[in-house]
Order: sequence, then C-alpha cells, then structure tokens
Amino acid sequence: MAIHSKIIGSGFATGEHCVPNSKLCEMMDTSDEWIRQRTGIEQRYVAENGTTTSDLGVRAAEKAIADAGLKKDDIDYVIFATMTPDYYFPGCGGLLVRKLGMKRSIPALDIRQQCTGFLFGLQTANALIKSGTAKNVLLVGAEIHSSLFPWAPPAWEYLFGRSDVPPTDEEKVLATQFRDRIVLFGDAGGAVVLTATEEDGAGLIDAKLFSDGDSFEDLYVPTGGTSQRPYMSIDALKRAELVPVMNGKSVFRRAVTLMPQAIAAVCDANKIRLEDIALFLPHQANLRINQMLQKTLGLPDERIYNNIQRYGNTTAATLPIAYNECVKGGLIKKGDLICFVGLGAGFHWGAVLYRQ
Ligand code: UT7
Repeated sequence: MAIHSKIIGSGFATGEHCVPNSKLCEMMDTSDEWIRQRTGIEQRYVAENGTTTSDLGVRAAEKAIADAGLKKDDIDYVIFATMTPDYYFPGCGGLLVRKLGMKRSIPALDIRQQCTGFLFGLQTANALIKSGTAKNVLLVGAEIHSSLFPWAPPAWEYLFGRSDVPPTDEEKVLATQFRDRIVLFGDAGGAVVLTATEEDGAGLIDAKLFSDGDSFEDLYVPTGGTSQRPYMSIDALKRAELVPVMNGKSVFRRAVTLMPQAIAAVCDANKIRLEDIALFLPHQANLRINQMLQKTLGLPDERIYNNIQRYGNTTAATLPIAYNECVKGGLIKKGDLICFVGLGAGFHWGAVLYRQ
C-alpha cells in the first residue's frame, strides 16, 4: 500500500469576544433581521486587542496536536494559511513555530489562498507526505478580520462591553459604508495534523483546485501592497482603503456556480458518485450560498454541514472548525467519505475528497 496522508487530530480557537448581531446594530445602521435573512449569521467572535492571527493559530494548533496524541516536536512541517497575517512580513508560520516553543527548527510554509487556504493546504500537506518530505504536518488556518475594520479604539471598548460610550454618529456613518462586510466576518483559528499512513482506504483521496486572477478586484484589500508607493499612506487610511472591497453579488454568483463544478471535477476524476459522499463540508461564507449548493446537488439537510450561524465567515479557519465539530459531534464516522469545498478571493476554488 502506498503512503498517503490522514488527519489524526483537529482543534480550533475563536476570538475572545462573542458579538451578537444586536451589538453590531448599536455600532452602525443594520438589523438582526437583515443579517439573518441575507447571511444566516447570528453571532461571530472578535479577538481581544493584542491577540494576533498567529496567537489564534497557536491555540488551535495546541489542541490539534493534543488531539492527535502527538508532542509538538513530532511535527516536522507547518503550513499556515491566512489572509490576515500578523505582519506584512514575515508570515505567521515561523511565528507559530516560535510561539509553540518547538525545540527543532522545522520548515514553516505560509500560504495565502484566502477562503480556500485549507483546501490548498491539504493538497500541499498530502504532497509533502507522499513524497516522503514530511511525516506529521500541522496545517493551520487562522484569521483576525476585525483588524481590517474601521472603528477607532474607543469603539472597540464599547463592542467588548467595557465602555458605555457608543460610537459617534460620524463613526456609525463610516461603519455603515462597510456594513455588508462587517456583519459577515469573524475571528478564529482552526488546525489539523496530517500524518503518513499506509492504512487502506483512509485519508486524502484527491483535490481539484483552481485559480484565476481575472476578477480579483471583486474581493480584495486595495492598499497595503506594492501596487502603491509607499505601500501605505495616511491618505489611504483616511479613505479607509484597509477595509476589503467586495462585490458581494458577483462573489455569491461565482460561489454557487464554481463550487458544484469543482465537486463534479473531483468526483468524476475518482469515479465517485454524489450519493457515495456521506457529508459535504462547504466553506462558510453565507448560509444562502450553501443552501443553493445543497439545492443544486439535491442533498438532504443531514448531508451538508453549516455553522456560519455561530462563527460568521472565518475564511481559512472555517473548514478545520467544521471538520473538528463534525468529528467530535459524531457526524463523521470511520470509513465515511467526505467532501470539502470552497471559493474565495483571488479567485481560488476547489474541492477535496477525504475518507475518514
Ligand atoms: O468568502 C468569500 C467572502 N464573501 C462572500 O462570499 C460574499 C458573498 N456575497 C454575499 O454574501 C452577499 O452578497 C452579501 C451578504 C454581502 C450581501 O447580500 P445581498 O443580498 O447581495 O445584498 P446587496 O449587497 O444587494 O444589498 C441589498 C441592500 C442594499 O440596500 P438598497 O441599495 O437595496 O437600499 C444594501 O445597502 O441591503 C443593504 N445592506 C444592508 N442592510 C442592512 C447591505 N448590507 C447591509 C447590512 N444591514 N449589513
């Protein structure tokens, strides 16, 4: 039996503060009804000031390594997926190795495929394991989206319930400009440990992944990169260009079209029928996107997993969180065939088949 890769542990950590829709309604012009109807989201978690993306990655990683029954020094490769790194450079991978307190210096790779970071990470981990380069790969997806949002320090204190002074009218008007994005995103980290196995049937079967930069401007952060000189300016900050630009309808259309195509591609290549798949784990960007995917595939509720109601969209963290909840909740059992699928900024999209 050839060597392939299998997930042997998972874990996740959220931002410290649970923020229900009702709190956001005090910070800008929005409503609980709009958010639930258009996105399915009821609450999200926001990180405490000073908590970084690598911190959430470390908290998730510690749980995943313990769940795998390994010690941190058994890990011989780290892959860290994020679109909200602690710094412009270096990436979060090396920071995680340091913060975990690993004794050995091991390779730590940073990848930035946004909402499909976990899918690209799975494919990369599998290749490293199959080639014999690594035995135990720690794959982390973590995000602190809240750092992209425009509130000044006092407003964060109000959001966290430590101040009675709500945002000013001016701040509310500013935040309302970005309300379609602010309501969507949450802060969290998720992690899995993959190991080399010869076990028949179990593990990663295949990944079909796709990238196309043609319409990247439908979802991107306009400043903070070499497209401008200097890469950051006071004027850009004043224009709130740190907040992602998003053409929501276009992203939505792309997701409901390309995710089913990716599932078909990976199933066809492996002669697997939709009926063979016990559970679909889609990226959590909008409950309505996943409901349309469910309808397109003709799935009953119990064959597709959603948790966006509780976490919002946590980008690279959504899929490891969903996987952990499904395994711990008994929704994925040994021998089950599952399918991860997602689409995100770039644009990148794809589907991965995995046998538990
Ligand atoms: O992982 C990838 C990340 N991104 C996505 O996947 C995004 C995919 N797209 C979406 O999820 C949806 O397009 C959104 C949830 C972002 C927006 O939903 P929509 O149904 O496409 O709404 P819309 O942008 O067409 O806006 C409809 C109305 C507008 O008002 P008018 O022009 O009709 O008066 C918006 O100003 O809803 C308004 N609106 C809001 N109202 C209250 C937009 N955001 C909000 C809000 N609260 N938070």
